[in-house]
Amino acid sequence: MRSWSSALLAIALATLAACGTDRAPMDGDDPPPPDPDACETSYLSYSNFGEPFALDWCRGCHSSSVPQGMRQKAPMGVNFDTKDDVIRWKERIAIRAAGPMPTMPPAGGPPDAERALLVEWLDCGAR
Ligand code: HEC
Repeated sequence: MRSWSSALLAIALATLAACGTDRAPMDGDDPPPPDPDACETSYLSYSNFGEPFALDWCRGCHSSSVPQGMRQKAPMGVNFDTKDDVIRWKERIAIRAAGPMPTMPPAGGPPDAERALLVEWLDCGAR
């Protein structure tokens, strides 16, 4: 009998220990604290990121140099030719192309990693 109860005790202790280790990863589920220096260390700029991104993914439809018939219905006034244009449309670009369910470009395309850089660049002021 004695060996049974110590076996049970061992199982109980092992279960408790397992609970303890189960809890540890749950603490890790909290989002990491925001990094206040993220924008200070971000290397992204309009010239090394914003402009090539707009060129690759947006200006085929959203440029004043694209005539109406070739814009694939992109509204005439919505152009991303310059940094000022992009800043003017910043909030909408964030929602349409850098949100959790992007809808621009309409057919998709930018890989997740590039979308993540767009989020970083916009969050840091599209400088
Ligand atoms: C194949 C053509 C095409 C490409 C490429 C494209 N768009 Fe659009 N865009 C459209 C069309 C069509 C509309 C109007 C319909 C709509 O709003 O969905 C539009 C509308 C918009 C608008 C104005 C409507 C609003 O929500 O404020 C924004 C902003 C926009 N697009 C952002 C972008 C961005 C940013 C990119 C590049 C990442 C992009 N688009 C690439 C076709 C395109």
